[in-house]
Amino acid sequence: MSINVIAIDGPAASGKGTLARRLAAHYGFHHLDTGLTYRAVAHELIETGASLDDEALAARTALSIDFSALDRNILSAHEIGEAASKVAVMPQVRKALVEAQRRFAATPPGTVLDGRDIGTVVCPDAPVKLYVTASPEVRAGRRAAEMAATGQPTDYDQVLADIRRRDARDSGRSDSPLKPADDAHLLDTSEMTIEAAFEAACAIADAALNRN
Ligand code: C5P
Repeated sequence: MSINVIAIDGPAASGKGTLARRLAAHYGFHHLDTGLTYRAVAHELIETGASLDDEALAARTALSIDFSALDRNILSAHEIGEAASKVAVMPQVRKALVEAQRRFAATPPGTVLDGRDIGTVVCPDAPVKLYVTASPEVRAGRRAAEMAATGQPTDYDQVLADIRRRDARDSGRSDSPLKPADDAHLLDTSEMTIEAAFEAACAIADAALNRN
């Protein structure tokens, strides 16, 4: 594996995706939003009218996902996120996607991966591990504002309930639950701007990658 891996984990709407994209641009590294890989599996199953409960089929679908063709515009739909967190509890799906994510992580000159299990399972040897979080209320507020900005109907209480349900499913599953790696740096963005979070993350990454 490439030694230049920045592993970013955290719950939905914590700001980890924005941070990952900015860090990748800053260091000239490749970026993979691993949530999109789980979403792509769910999307394919929904599109073909397949059941979301068939693990063998979901695992075969996971093996066929092309990481270079993940379309955020299509995959970011709310119901695909819900469905993704259901297929993400399946060990065979995780095994297929994690192997491909590890291959991606080894791309020179370096990579940034964001998800739920990057520092704990996908890249446990990553020299930089960040765990980005924020309170459920702050995350729901951000998600509701994003939805409103794109003209989608928004109900804050509904968004908050969805976030709590997704957190419980992601943290409570037995295979690769969402949790900080023991050696992850915690960044609570509840009261931080994205700029401040980016600067804090750069200081951590510069030190670990010997860039200072
Ligand atoms: O991050 P995003 O909301 O796009 O992820 C969708 C779902 O995919 C998450 O709720 C989680 O269940 C799953 N996921 C995962 N492991 C990852 C990334 C995402 O289980 N590394």
